Amino acid sequence: MMYSIEQLTDKVNQALDALAYNNKVENLYLPIKYTLDNGGKRIRPVLMMMAYNMYRDDVERILPNALAMEVYHNFTLLHDDVMDKAMMRRGKPCVHVKWDENTAILSGDTMLAMAYQLMTENAAFIKEALAAEVTAYFNAMATFNEATIGVCEGQQFDMDFESMDDVSEAQYMEMIRLKTSLLLSKSLKIGAQLAQADENDALLLHEFGEKIGLAFQLQDDLLDVYGDPAVFGKAIGGDITSNKKTFMLIKTLEMADTQSRKEMEEWISKPEFDKAAKIEAVVAIYDKVGIREVCQKKIEELFAQGMDALSKVWVEEQKKAMLYDFANRLLKRKS
Ligand code: IPE
Ligand code: IPE
Ligand code: MG
Ligand code: MG
Ligand code: MG
Repeated sequence: MMYSIEQLTDKVNQALDALAYNNKVENLYLPIKYTLDNGGKRIRPVLMMMAYNMYRDDVERILPNALAMEVYHNFTLLHDDVMDKAMMRRGKPCVHVKWDENTAILSGDTMLAMAYQLMTENAAFIKEALAAEVTAYFNAMATFNEATIGVCEGQQFDMDFESMDDVSEAQYMEMIRLKTSLLLSKSLKIGAQLAQADENDALLLHEFGEKIGLAFQLQDDLLDVYGDPAVFGKAIGGDITSNKKTFMLIKTLEMADTQSRKEMEEWISKPEFDKAAKIEAVVAIYDKVGIREVCQKKIEELFAQGMDALSKVWVEEQKKAMLYDFANRLLKRKS
C-alpha cells in the first residue's frame, strides 16, 4: 500500500513526540524538545519513507532512520542560526535567542549524537534483517555519513563566501548542493537502499532529490527577500545583511548597470550600516534588474530536471505519483 504525505508526516511527528529524554539534565533537553516540537515541514524523513514505500509496504520499519535524518536536520538549524545571527525560526525565537549560544551549541551537539544513535540502533530492522539487508543497512549508513559531513562542508563554504566578492554561480550551486541538496538526495537514496531497490533507481532518486534540493534552496533564498515573515517563519533580509552570496546577489551584480552595481558593491563592503536601509536599497536594485523572475526561472528549470530524473525510475507511474505531488507542493511553498 502507498501511504499519503499526510500519513507519513503524522508518523514522523508522533515518533518525534515519543522520543524519551533524560529529564535529570533538563536544560540540555528542553531546547531539543522545543526545537523538535516546533513544527517544520518534515520534508527529509517523508522523502525517505516515500522512496522506501515505492518498493516495500512496511514503512514503519525505517521510522528510526527517517527520524535520524530529521533530528540531524534540526541540529544543523540550531547551529546555522548562531552562524547566521538569525533571530526567528518557524515563527518563534531561535534557541540561541530564547536561551543562549552555549545552549544552542551543546543541545545541537546532542542532537547530532542522537541522530547517529537513531541511525545505527534501529533494532526492529537489524533484528529481523536477512544477510542482504545487513549489507543494505551498512550502505545506508555510509550514505548518511556522506550527507552529514557534506552539509558541514557546504556550511563552511557558505560562511567563507560572506567575505568573498568574486563568488561565481557555479561555486554557489556547489555550495547549496552540499548544504541543502544532500539531505534531500541522501534521504531518498537511503530509503531506496533500505528497501533494496535497484541501484539505478537509487541513483535516479538521488538525482531527483539533488535537483529538487537546489530548487528548494533557491526558493529559500527568494523567500528570504520576498517572503511574508508571518508565513515563512523567519525574518526577511537576513541574507542581505550578512552578505550571503546567493544566486540573486551574484546574478544581480552580473546584470545591473554600472551605477547600480557600484551601489550594491558599496553596501556589501560597508562595515557598519542600518540594517533596514541596506535591505531596502538592495531590494530596490533586485527589483530594478527583475531578479525575482530570473530566480524563478532557474527554480523551474532545476525542478524540471528533477522531474525528468524521476520519470526514469523503474516503477509503475502510480507509485511515483506521490513524489510528483510532493515536489509540486515544494515548488509552490511559501513557508
Ligand atoms: C530550512 O529547511 C533550511 C534549508 C535548507 C533552507 P526547511 O525549510 O526544510 O525547514 P523546516 O524543517 O521545514 O523548518
Ligand atoms: C540552509 O541554509 C542550510 C542549512 C541550514 C544546513 P540557510 O541558512 O539559508 O537556512 P535558513 O534560511 O536559515 O533556514
Ligand atoms: Mg545558513
Ligand atoms: Mg540560516
Ligand atoms: Mg535561508
